[in-house]
Amino acid sequence: MKKVLATILAVVMSLGILAGCTQSETGNGGSTPAEGDNASGSTANHEQLQVGIIQYNDHPSLNTIREALVNHLAELGYKDGDNIVIDYKNGQNDQINLNSICQKFVSDDKDLIIAIATPAAEAAAAAAADTDIPVLFSAVTDPVSAKLVESLEKPGRNVTGTSDKIPVDQIIDLALQLTPDIKTIGLLYSTNEANSLSVISEAKEYAGQKGIEVTESGITNVGELQQAAQTLASKADAIFTPIDNQVASAMNTLAKVGMDTKTPVYVGADSMVNDGGFATVGINYTELGEKTAEMAKEIFEGASVSDMPVQTLSDFQTVINQTTAEKIGVTVPESILENAQVVQ
Ligand code: TRP
Repeated sequence: MKKVLATILAVVMSLGILAGCTQSETGNGGSTPAEGDNASGSTANHEQLQVGIIQYNDHPSLNTIREALVNHLAELGYKDGDNIVIDYKNGQNDQINLNSICQKFVSDDKDLIIAIATPAAEAAAAAAADTDIPVLFSAVTDPVSAKLVESLEKPGRNVTGTSDKIPVDQIIDLALQLTPDIKTIGLLYSTNEANSLSVISEAKEYAGQKGIEVTESGITNVGELQQAAQTLASKADAIFTPIDNQVASAMNTLAKVGMDTKTPVYVGADSMVNDGGFATVGINYTELGEKTAEMAKEIFEGASVSDMPVQTLSDFQTVINQTTAEKIGVTVPESILENAQVVQ
């Protein structure tokens, strides 16, 4: 018995010494690179990393991102309830909610705030502006025009993340292949969403190059969507809407106008095709969530956020809604269907 106790004691002591070494090593290594290290410094004090996730609303694409992010974090060794604690909050489409949730995350002194979609990222960046709490965004279409980062290569402060920038030129090319008679395209977007505005200006420019006329309608709230869509449908041969949070949240309304007026509705995200939009060339939101998890891991391990480039995806997928095609009387060529993801 005595022997056993002695052995246990020896093991415990050597573990203690080892743990002591590891801790002081981390401490020393951590304190050398100054500044950005404060975040990882506070990290070392918590037993579990405290992570706040703020998501703009309960939308399928955003849920896909969050689920992929949390699953991949676990695969990377950061499992909720083990070594990290994830505090997930949903802003329910409301900027005031977003702001107060993010302020609470800051006063709770989270080790990391992850923000999904532009309005959530804007709230998180504002709340954490005078702190060194890192903010990691996901699915922000244009983080430069949303003033979250100075440039994609060098964010410049405690905010970085992943962007779901889409190839507008490819979407317009697809529109011209599927519905070659388009003379006028109607652009539909929210005037208060930075993620939409920059895509709309690219769309205008590319349509101009292709000799397509543009007519546009900017909405300020979702209640204006139906009327705006109807007006555009009466003036244009097709409608394009970017990855707009407000429009996406009422995508069924827009899809119905498209079907009733036999107007093809081209969109910015696969979920908007699932909801009855006609077609897109979009990104994979699972992949985006996983990429965001990899960045979170780097931050946990002490990477300097202000130097971490914003990540984008370069694989794009054509997605077509076959039911919508039938409703609007468009036959999709076999050559396009072959390489597309088809939804019914
Ligand atoms: N890109 C959007 C933004 O910057 C967020 C987003 C991602 C989104 N996927 C979506 C919005 C699908 C609507 C539908 O805010």
